[in-house]
Amino acid sequence: MALAARVQRQPDAAAVAEQAAERLLAGLAGRRPVGLATGRTMEPVYGALRRRLAALPAAQRAALLAGWRSFNLDEYVGLAPSDPRSFAATMAAALAGPLELRPGQLQLPDGTAPWPDQEARRYAAALAAAGGIGLQLLGLGSNGHVGFNEPPCGAEAPCRCLELTAATALQNASAFGGDPAAVPSRAITLGMAEILAAEEILLVVTGAAKAEILRRALEEPPTAALPASWLQQHPRLMVLVDPPAASRLRLS
Ligand code: GLP
Repeated sequence: MALAARVQRQPDAAAVAEQAAERLLAGLAGRRPVGLATGRTMEPVYGALRRRLAALPAAQRAALLAGWRSFNLDEYVGLAPSDPRSFAATMAAALAGPLELRPGQLQLPDGTAPWPDQEARRYAAALAAAGGIGLQLLGLGSNGHVGFNEPPCGAEAPCRCLELTAATALQNASAFGGDPAAVPSRAITLGMAEILAAEEILLVVTGAAKAEILRRALEEPPTAALPASWLQQHPRLMVLVDPPAASRLRLS
């Protein structure tokens, strides 16, 4: 499929969120777990997902929630789920709490594990035992990362613990009182290997600030310098964008 055919441009960010939520609902009904992401882009997506679930007939909603299995991409090393800045707390507030999911239905790496490398291996093994990802939801980092796969990063990089870049500390500082130095220096992330092994990938990008990095990710040859560019090689990649994010795409 030509890359242009995989880019679905929506009228605005709210429509992007609605479309992403609809695809997530379909993913949740699938055989394999869904892969979930955090970040500001996902907040309206999870809001739309909650509303869609609430609007379903009770029996259908109950069946979807009973069968819910998800693995998040990443977590900061050193942050406990009780820390509101952790991705575990973000997911508890956005989905696990309001949807009353059972413990273990929505999984993340454990940021407080004493040996983060070992925790990354455990998490990868748990995902493999669950059959790998069906639908993988992704945001796009300002430096071209997906999950926390910081550049440079090859397509075979596995789930691991790694150092975050200065660009990412800056991007995510708002959750840490605006101070990049307060952002944890390390994270555990699913690798490009696990992401590219997903049956289907849904990359969600909104806002003008991501327009140039999205253009490079989709239109330049895949390179370790821009981890999201490996997504071009996935046979079932769908990119959902609003007009500002799509503004630099030649094929849009
Ligand atoms: C974060 C997360 C990514 C996320 C991306 C975009 O650092 N690790 O999973 O998709 O960066 O974040 P945002 O949506 O806030 O721009």
